[in-house]
Amino acid sequence: MSVLVTGGAGFIGSVVVDQLRVRGERVVVLDDLSRGHRDQLDADVPLYQAPVGDAATVRRIIDEHSVDTCIHFAGLIAVGESVKNPGLYWRRNVGESIILFETLADADVENVVFSSSAAVYGDPIELPIREDHPRKPTSPYGNTKMVMELVLEDLSAASPLRAVSLRYFNAAGATDRRRERHDPETHLIPLALRAAANGTPMKIFGTDYPTPDGTAIRDYIHVSDLGAAHLLAIEYLRCGEPTTAVNLGVGHGASVREVIATAESVTGIQINVEEMPRRAGDPAELVAAADTARMVLGWTPEITALADIIASAWHWEQRP
Ligand SMILES: NC(=O)c1ccc[n+]([C@@H]2O[C@H](COP(=O)([O-])OP(=O)(O)OC[C@H]3O[C@@H](n4cnc5c(N)ncnc54)[C@H](O)[C@@H]3O)[C@@H](O)[C@H]2O)c1
Repeated sequence: MSVLVTGGAGFIGSVVVDQLRVRGERVVVLDDLSRGHRDQLDADVPLYQAPVGDAATVRRIIDEHSVDTCIHFAGLIAVGESVKNPGLYWRRNVGESIILFETLADADVENVVFSSSAAVYGDPIELPIREDHPRKPTSPYGNTKMVMELVLEDLSAASPLRAVSLRYFNAAGATDRRRERHDPETHLIPLALRAAANGTPMKIFGTDYPTPDGTAIRDYIHVSDLGAAHLLAIEYLRCGEPTTAVNLGVGHGASVREVIATAESVTGIQINVEEMPRRAGDPAELVAAADTARMVLGWTPEITALADIIASAWHWEQRP
C-alpha cells in the first residue's frame, strides 16, 4: 500500500514526504511543479508531474502504487492572488480537487487527509477559534477551502471515503532538510528573515488593529509539528474513524511586531519596517483552540516557542 501525496514538492508536502518515509510508508507524489521544486524531494521518490485534475494520471498512480491513502496538499495558497484572480483559484483548488476526490472514491481509496485552512473561519466571532465556529471565509482562497471541506463531507456520506480536513493556522519554520520556498513569498517569517538578510525594509500591513500593539495576531505552528499531525490523521482514518475537521495551531498567538522583534533577536540584526494600511480581508486575530487535535488525533506540538520556530528557518538562510 502507498500514500499518494499531492503537492509533495511544496513546502509542507515535502516535509510530510520525509516523515512518511522515516515511518516506513511507501510514498508517491503528484505535483505539477507549478509552485513546487523537484529538489525538495529525494531522487528516489516517485514523482508524477501532472495537475491533480488529470484523472487518468491519478487513476494510473492508484493502480501502479496500490494507493490506500491520499494527502492532498496541492493547491494555490495566496489570499491576495485569489482576490485578484478568483477564477484561477476556483479552477485549481476546487475544480481539479473534485476530479481528484471523485477518482479516489471511484477507485475505492478510502482515506483522505485534506490541507484546509483557518481561512475557512473568516473574521472570528469568538477566540480561540473552535472547529464548530461558523465557516464564513473572507477571500476566494478561503471559499475554495470551505467548499472542498463540504465536498468531502458529501462524498463521505455517499461512499466509503472518509476524510480529515486539517485547518492549518500559520505554518512556519524549517526542518534540517526542507524549507519554505514560496514565489512570490507572502508569509511573514520568511519575509522578516529576508529583510534581516538583505537590509531591505519590510512592510507591516495594519498598525491600528484592536490588539495590544495594533498589529495582527496569528498562531504560528512549526512545519514538523504540522507534519506529525498528518501521520496521526492517517492512523485515525485507517482505524475506520469518521470524517472530521481539526484545527492545527499551538493555541497562542504572536503579533506582527512580536514576530519582527523575535526575528531581530534570533538574527541579531535590526529589521527596518514600513507601516502600511490594513489589507482587505485580514482579520485582527486568528488563534486556534487546539484541544481537538490533542483529543482526537493524540497530537501535541513540540516546538512551540516562536524563537525556536524562527531560528529553524534562519539556520537555513545562513547556509552557503
Ligand atoms: N503554508 C501555510 O501556512 C498554509 C496555511 C494553511 C493552509 N495551507 C495549505 O497547505 C497546502 C500546502 O501549502 P504549502 O505552503 O506547502 O504550499 P506550496 O505552494 O509550497 O506547495 C503546493 C504544491 O502544490 C503544487 N500544486 C499546486 N496546484 C497544483 C495542482 N492543481 N496540481 C498539482 N500540483 C499542484 C505546487 O507545485 C506545489 O508544489 C496548500 O493546500 C495550502 O492551501 C498552507
